[in-house]
Amino acid sequence: MISWPTSVPTLIDGDLMLRPWATTDMDAVYEICQDPTIQLLTTVPVPYLRSTADDFFVHQQRGFELKDSISFAGVVNGEVIGSFALHHCIQFDHFCELGYWVAPNARGHGFAHRGAKLATDFAFAIGFRRVQAVTLPENTGSQKTLLKAGFEMETVLRQGMTRRDETQTDAVMFAKFPHVDVEK
Ligand SMILES: CC(C)(COP(=O)(O)OP(=O)(O)OC[C@H]1O[C@@H](n2cnc3c(N)ncnc32)[C@H](O)[C@@H]1OP(=O)(O)O)[C@@H](O)C(=O)NCCC(=O)NCCS
Repeated sequence: MISWPTSVPTLIDGDLMLRPWATTDMDAVYEICQDPTIQLLTTVPVPYLRSTADDFFVHQQRGFELKDSISFAGVVNGEVIGSFALHHCIQFDHFCELGYWVAPNARGHGFAHRGAKLATDFAFAIGFRRVQAVTLPENTGSQKTLLKAGFEMETVLRQGMTRRDETQTDAVMFAKFPHVDVEK
């Protein structure tokens, strides 16, 4: 059984904090989501308008209320550096899916895999038994991030994703389980 929290918690690993989103973060979200790499490799809406960020805030709050998702702002030294979310939470089957992006100027410092690990550890702490993550085949950065966060590459979903240009492509499925906690 999942012990759904009464509010989104704050999680800390050294200088990296995962905390609930605030409306005052949405200017930063808007700026960061202009990044072409985020637009290419994730499902953020394109074009990403200022109002899209406000919609995101409402959407993530509703997702939490509906027990469908738990979204965190990744913050370092008071600045939003990324987004980490447990979404598609299927309580009956005790699994959820991890998604994330990190601002271009904050990449290469280990924030992605540390944030992924924090969010995943929290998922296990409240009762999830499987956290999965799906990447495009060419997204080696995300694949390395997941491996460093202790995920295993599990399988390839044939024709499992659609790219921005509407081409269909294989998707790479990663998963982590409560008993697996190996830094690679
Ligand atoms: C993927 C992403 C989150 C990585 O962020 P990051 O903070 O740079 O990641 P980390 O610093 O934790 O790096 C983890 C590992 O991945 C490697 N890595 C990160 N980006 C990489 C890239 N583009 N190519 C190859 N390796 C990469 C790092 O070198 C590191 O491995 P190492 O310690 O052995 O060197 C970031 O590039 C991003 O936001 N990309 C766009 C959004 C996205 O792809 N989201 C995931 C969708 S599935």
